[in-house]
Amino acid sequence: MGQWNALHEAMTEAKRTVKFAVLGCGHIGKRHMEMIRRDPEAELVAACDMRSAEEVGIDTSTVRYFTDVDEMLREVPEIEVLNVCTPNGLHVPHSLKGLEYRKHLVCEKPMGLSKAACEEVIHKALQVGRHVFGVMQNRYSPPSVWLKDMVVSGRLGDIFMVQVNCYWNRDERYYKKGNWKGTNELDGGTLFTQFSHFVDILYWLFGDITDIQGKFDDFNHKDLTEFEDSGMVSFRFKRGGMGCLNYTTSVWDRNLESSLTVIGSKGSVKVGGQYMDKVEVCHVKDYTFTELPPTNPANDYGAYKGSAQNHDHIIRNVVDTILDRGSMTTNALEGLKVVEIIERIYRKRDEQLVR
Ligand SMILES: NC(=O)c1ccc[n+]([C@@H]2O[C@H](COP(=O)([O-])OP(=O)(O)OC[C@H]3O[C@@H](n4cnc5c(N)ncnc54)[C@H](O)[C@@H]3O)[C@@H](O)[C@H]2O)c1
Repeated sequence: MGQWNALHEAMTEAKRTVKFAVLGCGHIGKRHMEMIRRDPEAELVAACDMRSAEEVGIDTSTVRYFTDVDEMLREVPEIEVLNVCTPNGLHVPHSLKGLEYRKHLVCEKPMGLSKAACEEVIHKALQVGRHVFGVMQNRYSPPSVWLKDMVVSGRLGDIFMVQVNCYWNRDERYYKKGNWKGTNELDGGTLFTQFSHFVDILYWLFGDITDIQGKFDDFNHKDLTEFEDSGMVSFRFKRGGMGCLNYTTSVWDRNLESSLTVIGSKGSVKVGGQYMDKVEVCHVKDYTFTELPPTNPANDYGAYKGSAQNHDHIIRNVVDTILDRGSMTTNALEGLKVVEIIERIYRKRDEQLVR
C-alpha cells in the first residue's frame, strides 16, 4: 500500500494527470489500458476483472489489480474515471456502480441493452454530477469527419437517400461456447455488438429515424448465437429523406464491406472499404475532393477484425473535458439514442419471430 501511495504522490507532484481505472480487461479493456498509458496526461491507476491477473495476462507490477470492483473503487480513491469494458449486458450495472463511487465513466458501446436502463445511468450521473462518455471511435476516422462536414455544411444539399451496408464475418472462430458473445442477456444482438457504430454514424450524421420496416434472418448462426445474423432495415429520417441498413455477420471467411452511400440534391458520396475507411465516390456540385489522411487500421483480433483503432481520441477527449479544455465528443444522450434506435429495430424483428 505504502509504496503505491508514495509512487502516486511523486507522479501527481510532477504534473496533473487524469486518473483512470479499467473494469474488464479483455480484448478492448487492454486497448483502453494501452491508450491511457500512451496519453501523457492520463494515468492508469488500477484495473479490475473477475478473472485472475494471470488469466487475463496483466502484469501486476505495472498496475494495481483487483478481481472485485467494489474493492478497487474503495481502495483506490484517486480514481477519477472508470472505463467500463465488460460485456454489453453489464455496462449499466457497472456504470451505476462507478457512479455510486462518484466516478466519471467511459462506457464501451453499447451504453446498455435498453433505453430504460440507459436512462437510469443518465439520471444517476446527473444526480452525482459526473460525466458519461460513450465510445464511438469510428466518428474520428477521417472519412467520418469529412462526411460530417459535407452533411452539416449543406454541400450535399437535401438528403434524399442513405444506404449503409455492413457485410461482416463472425463465425465459430468468434463465438466460443461459454462466452458472453452470442447470448441475448450479455451480448443482446448483432446490431448491439457488431453494428452499433454504424447506427451511431447514421444518427450522428442524419438524426433520428422513423417508419422502421425490416426483414431479419439467421442464415448460419443457429448453433452459435441466440439471435439473428442478418437484417435489411428501411426507414425515413425525421429531417426528410429515407435510408436503409443492410447487415450480416454471415459472410464466409472474412469481412467484406462496411459502406455508406449518400444521395443528396447537390451530389453523391460513397464511403466504403472493409471498414468505411475510404472515400470511394465523391461527385458534388462546385466541390473538388482532396485526399484525406489515412484511416487507422481496424482492431485486429486474429481471425477476425473490428472497427477502427481510434480509442486514443476517446481518452484525449476525456482528459480535455475533465481538465476543462474542451467538451465531450460523444455524450450519454447520444449513447442512449443509439440503444433506443436498435431497440425499435429489434421490436420489428421480434414481432416477426423469425426463429
Ligand atoms: N469500441 C469498439 O470498437 C469495441 C470493440 C470490441 C469490443 N467492444 C465492447 O467492449 C466490451 C468488451 O468486449 P471484449 O471484446 O473486450 O470482450 P472480452 O470478453 O474480451 O472482455 C470482457 C472482459 O470482462 C470481464 N468480465 C466479465 N464479467 C465481469 C464482471 N462481472 N466483473 C469484472 N470483469 C468482468 C471478462 O472476464 C473479460 O475479461 C463489449 O461491450 C464490446 O461490445 C467495443
